[in-house]
Amino acid sequence: MQRAVTDRIATAADDRAELIAGLRAERATIAPKHFYDPLGCALYAAICATPEYYPTRTEAAIFAGHAADIVARVGAGRTLVDLGAGDARKAQWWIPRLRPAAYVGVDYAAAELAAALERLDGAFPDLPLSGVVTDFGRGLDLRADLPPGDVAFFYPGSSIGNFAPDDALVLLRSLRAHAAPERRASLLIGVDTHKDARRLVAAYDDALGITAAFNRNVLNNVNALLGTAFDPAAFRHVALYDESLRRIEMHLEAAHEHVVLLDGTPRRFAPGERIHTENSYKYAPQDFARLLRRAGFATATWWTDAAGDFAVFHAA
Ligand code: AVJ
Repeated sequence: MQRAVTDRIATAADDRAELIAGLRAERATIAPKHFYDPLGCALYAAICATPEYYPTRTEAAIFAGHAADIVARVGAGRTLVDLGAGDARKAQWWIPRLRPAAYVGVDYAAAELAAALERLDGAFPDLPLSGVVTDFGRGLDLRADLPPGDVAFFYPGSSIGNFAPDDALVLLRSLRAHAAPERRASLLIGVDTHKDARRLVAAYDDALGITAAFNRNVLNNVNALLGTAFDPAAFRHVALYDESLRRIEMHLEAAHEHVVLLDGTPRRFAPGERIHTENSYKYAPQDFARLLRRAGFATATWWTDAAGDFAVFHAA
């Protein structure tokens, strides 16, 4: 049972203007949402299979180990809202267990979301499915899109880490704001934990170079969006952990001088100059629980693996 995919993306022109401004800035930036063209989605799936990238498999083990407890807390019969659904593999695992009344996939990657809805439709022909293509960087308001009844937001994978804590708070508050007298709104969210910097950096700089390829591929996507001629091979992948900000940073560092025509005006990248492509914030579980409470959730329960490498929270 599939309904149409609603397209809420800021116009392509807004997106292009934001990208150009980011590239012209003294400290150039590209927003991480631009990683996820079809090749980027495939490379991200490959990252998740590398030995170094522990979050995906650790989260899956926490889900499997605590499934009954998690199901008891989330409850059956809700609308499951899958944030950053991607290929929706994680939601597909939960659907038979959580038995939601409906599924809503939300992602910026339109092609990947459409393919995921097709697959879910085959697997769960009786489940009402819909999709919303949007960028929820400044919060999310789905109140007009949701069927009546309780909602369970699902935000796995530590994608919340792409937001600085203040922006994460804005997003979490906007999710909480879906609660109303006639609607409960809860959240099941995966969060990567602060840990030894060497392990964190290895997870973002794997030996096979898949994360490096994922990072460089953003330039292919920028070329497609802006008509620029960035040469991905001219940039080195850099991953570092900022201990004080508790975030992984990914950058693309120009190996030699690189000049690109941006909207008709040259933009020169000096040797060693970096384009900042991603932040991935890490949390101590207590700190993330505090953030959930500041967002307005009354309760926050969490589960971790034995090593404490990753945490899954339920907030209600
Ligand atoms: C999809 C945002 C959770 O930050 O770990 C993986 C993306 N970047 N390797 C993360 C990513 C480099 C990932 N998230």
